Amino acid sequence: MADSGLPHRPKPEETPEASAAPAAEGGAAAPSKNALKKAAKEKAKAEKAAQRAAQEKAQQQAAAANAEDTAKGLYGPIPESEDLQPVTNIQQLSEEHYEKEVTVIARVDNARVQSAKLAFLMLRQQGVKVQAVVAAKEPISRQMVKWTGGINVNSIVQVTGTVKKPGVPIASATLSNLEIHISKAYLISEAAQMLPMQVKDAERPPPLSDVVEDGVQLDAEGAPIVTLKTRLDNRVLDLQTETSQAITWISSGIVQLFSEYMLKSGARWIFTSKLAGAASEGGSNVFEVKYFKRKAYLTQSPQLYKQMCIAGDMESVFEIGPVFRAEDSNTHRHLTEFTGLDFERTFRHHYHEVLEFAEDLLVFILTELKERYKDQIAVVQKSYPKAGDFKLPKGGKALRLKYMDGVALLKEAGVDVSEQERFENDLTTAMEKQLGQIIREKYDTDFYVLDKFPMAVRPFYTKADPEDPKFSNSYDFFMRGEEIMSGAQRIHDAKELEDSMRAKGLDPNSEEFEDYLAAFRQGCPPHAGGGLGLNRILQFFLGLPNIRLATLFPRDPQRLRP
Ligand code: 4AD
Ligand code: MG
Repeated sequence: MADSGLPHRPKPEETPEASAAPAAEGGAAAPSKNALKKAAKEKAKAEKAAQRAAQEKAQQQAAAANAEDTAKGLYGPIPESEDLQPVTNIQQLSEEHYEKEVTVIARVDNARVQSAKLAFLMLRQQGVKVQAVVAAKEPISRQMVKWTGGINVNSIVQVTGTVKKPGVPIASATLSNLEIHISKAYLISEAAQMLPMQVKDAERPPPLSDVVEDGVQLDAEGAPIVTLKTRLDNRVLDLQTETSQAITWISSGIVQLFSEYMLKSGARWIFTSKLAGAASEGGSNVFEVKYFKRKAYLTQSPQLYKQMCIAGDMESVFEIGPVFRAEDSNTHRHLTEFTGLDFERTFRHHYHEVLEFAEDLLVFILTELKERYKDQIAVVQKSYPKAGDFKLPKGGKALRLKYMDGVALLKEAGVDVSEQERFENDLTTAMEKQLGQIIREKYDTDFYVLDKFPMAVRPFYTKADPEDPKFSNSYDFFMRGEEIMSGAQRIHDAKELEDSMRAKGLDPNSEEFEDYLAAFRQGCPPHAGGGLGLNRILQFFLGLPNIRLATLFPRDPQRLRP
């Protein structure tokens, strides 16, 4: 209605009473008090009547519309009495479902009204998309078509319909050769109309440089480019993309394969404390926390505890848990909190018993990932082309080189390795990457091991090489030229351990080492182990440009949310 909807009210000069008003009363032209009161009463009455009429009209219209709506009960908010029908996973839909009725619960990836009689929904479940159509044909009404096509993107719906073969394959759907013809559509959870980022925009990889500041940027096709920062700020939406879904499945797979292998080998799953009274592992990269009236520290790895478990006669242990590093490193591969996959085991004659065990473990994980997660790898590959090309060593055995052989390969390639030859520094990240390239070309593998690092670049608990104490019985594992594991034989003799501490400038008599040293003074078998970074394995296996893409809720020096 254009105006208030009230009946036309005549202007005073048109009012017959006004002109005919007897001037006798008080002799003035002004109406009396009583007349004014009466007029006001009349006005209120008229307004009320008009309001009532409008209300009645609206009710009548609604009733008429309802009466006409042949789809009443087939759409809208999910009715409480709705039967709990069996639900099919979108992923499991196939041509075998043609002409069968299914019920799915999914997100609305996109909703579109084509005409008064036709609307489309793109449904998405765990990143897998299928198209649904709703057409006005008894009992489906135009009202139902309009409502369905108008559902907010990202809302969760329950849809029942018949699976049919579409006229032409639906290129934008994952399941391009089927379509659900909707008979019922219910809203389970409504998404806000405005989302901070569209899931479909996050389907494309972020720009390679994180430096890109926020503010909308458009790509060549005019679609918004979603920066890594925007994705991570809105991680819940970002996790809904097909790519994130695949990455998080592969992450789950790595952990499953690690624990599967460990348990099969007879190892025991342990859970050690992440709060410690001293920062005994050394280095400055430790987070201090308030612990009632004292200070505590977040552990930088389960290193000391897994060794104490070995001293506690557990023989072979592993742990999967958070690892904290107060390192102000803002790189593509550093986090301040990551998930560590640690193991420690005794050996009889030589630490290579454990090294071989660890090599076989990695070959198992990587081989099985390729096999069991082919579909997910293929999805990631659409955005990150390297995802599918990880080269495994031939013959199921890891390539093992000595650290100095690696240095020699770099020297051959013209790299200045003088510091490394003097054992002053470990390989730099750039050197590691280059060595990875050289090894890929020479040995056709993206996974390899360097053994026998110089003692100078390893921590105090590392066993020196008995044949040449400049070196140590320690190893690093690499994927695509980047470190994913460090490990070593540990010193199990208390006296030797104290000497090693002194050599590294640590005081074995200080209180912080008391408990750790006690474990060895009380007798401990020879053992070795290693620590792997889950996020790094995932990142480098898939060739992701940034570790944050391989971490659910990444923590780095800048980011502490969400
Ligand atoms: O090389 P790191 O520091 O070795 C240790 O923690 C030893 N206690 C392990 C052992 O058993 N001797 O860490 C082990 C692995 C690295 O190879 C890397 O994969 C990962 O943990 N890592 C990180 N991942 C993400 N962000 C960081 N800041 C990381 N630091 C180490
Ligand atoms: Mg290391």
